[in-house]
Amino acid sequence: MGCELTKLASSTTQNQSGRESPPPPAATDPRLPLTARQKYTIIASWKAVARAMEPTGIYMFVKLFEENNELLSLFTKFRELKTKEQQTSSLELAEHATVVMETLDEGIKSLDDMDVFLTYLHQVGASHTKIDGFNRQYFWKIEAPFLDAVKRTLDDRYTDNVESIYKLTIKFIIETLIDGYDKALKDSGKS
Ligand code: HEM
Repeated sequence: MGCELTKLASSTTQNQSGRESPPPPAATDPRLPLTARQKYTIIASWKAVARAMEPTGIYMFVKLFEENNELLSLFTKFRELKTKEQQTSSLELAEHATVVMETLDEGIKSLDDMDVFLTYLHQVGASHTKIDGFNRQYFWKIEAPFLDAVKRTLDDRYTDNVESIYKLTIKFIIETLIDGYDKALKDSGKS
């Protein structure tokens, strides 16, 4: 009997109050700059953005061009769309915006598996080395438009906590795209 009690006591962790402690948080991949809770929160929050992929993406690109007019000329499919109204109603822009949002969707859904996340986004970053006139720094130009677009879509669900996690996540995504871009340039001997 005494023996059983000893076994029981040694199999659970006790804190100073003598109660059982909650299990330690699951270890996260050290390459991911988010805690397990932050990762859980963004994956859950993103589901609402994923249901509004096209309007969120269109708003993001219209913002991008509003703030960086010179980037429009890189897009052969819609560089003639000068006004915000033309851009907002363009099928070509909507299609491209959706492709980019789907890429972000794949990225955010794979935050649980860093190997998948990094391989996928490195490849997307690398694909931008084929674009005439593209510069690695352009990736940062989407940061603010992305956050504005997510804020608009989530509205009152965009709490301070959620905002801080989206900020960490988009920074991490952009850094990963740039790593892939740089690696592709290096491998092709162009840098
Ligand atoms: C969140 C960051 C970004 C992601 C995930 C992303 C993703 C992609 C993807 C998946 C494509 C291929 C689309 C297709 O061929 O249908 C693409 C093409 C392209 N991206 Fe990005 N991109 C990002 C940021 C940017 C930024 C900031 C620029 C600004 C200059 C840019 C410029 C382009 C251009 C010019 C193309 C070629 C479009 C075409 O002519 O079809 N990208 N991007």
